[in-house]
Amino acid sequence: MREQIYRQLKQAGGFISGETVSAPLGITRAALWKHIRAIEADGAVIESAPKRGYRLVSPPEIPRAEYVRAHIRHNVVVVYKTSTTSTNDDAKAAASGLAEGVFIAGEQTSGKGRKGRAWVSAPRSGVYMSFLVRPVSEPERVAGLTLAAAVAMCRAIESLADVTARIKWPNDIIIGGKKAAGILTESMLSMDGVDFVVCGIGVNTYARFEGALAETATAVPVNGTLLAAAMIDRFFDAFGQFEQSGLAPFMDEFRQRSAIFGTVTVLSGADSQSGVLAGYDDDGALLLRCGAQLKRFVAGEVTLRGDEGYV
Ligand code: BTN
Repeated sequence: MREQIYRQLKQAGGFISGETVSAPLGITRAALWKHIRAIEADGAVIESAPKRGYRLVSPPEIPRAEYVRAHIRHNVVVVYKTSTTSTNDDAKAAASGLAEGVFIAGEQTSGKGRKGRAWVSAPRSGVYMSFLVRPVSEPERVAGLTLAAAVAMCRAIESLADVTARIKWPNDIIIGGKKAAGILTESMLSMDGVDFVVCGIGVNTYARFEGALAETATAVPVNGTLLAAAMIDRFFDAFGQFEQSGLAPFMDEFRQRSAIFGTVTVLSGADSQSGVLAGYDDDGALLLRCGAQLKRFVAGEVTLRGDEGYV
């Protein structure tokens, strides 16, 4: 019911009378009004005027599936939970009965970052989303999907905000020199190859950072429903291209979006190697010039630190 009402408001593009919305749904005007109040409570701005009806001014901040679905091009299962441990866990749990889907949460009580770190996921502070997909690529190529996803997320953010989104290899999204979003990809392998991949993405929208974190983290204040929808469409556009042509078509844009330059240190376990960033190859590996040697590092195996131009 809520979804149909929201779709009508959105499709009207201007005022639509209460009668026009409620009659086909077989509900009273009073019942409609209650739904409108609930959509407003989710952060939508809806103008109401006597005799003219209702007008959707801006979509809900809370990216519930029933709102997000009204804004996407791709036909995909979208699931929303008000609260969950981690949307990556939700996607993995669903994988036994679902081929492909999107899992969104209003908050995560146990949000996960890379390298075992936590991802702070408070309500109305970010979009927390995981994609469940089944690439047919060989396992060693799947790491590339994370880089393609990073490019897709930059596109999604830039479609809504007047910012330049850059990438700290392999998959941190950097805005104004600070991290605004991160990606945690988990793959499930079977005897036959890749069973499924869960690509979890967190974008800070209204999160506030204090103390030391304020030096390295930032938020991009955009509407939650519109951002979630843009993330879904851009992700599945990219996934389709990745499946057809691999990572190579993304790499020019990835290079242009690189937030890293100059001298960097690559950490791998207890080892560390410093050098000058020489670029990225078409498989998404980082190339480091160490004296006369050119060394190649594969995403997922190393951590990056640097002196200039990135966090
Ligand atoms: C990182 O930069 O360390 C990766 C952060 C990934 C966070 C997202 S939020 C949605 C999904 N669920 C999780 O628990 N983590 C990812």
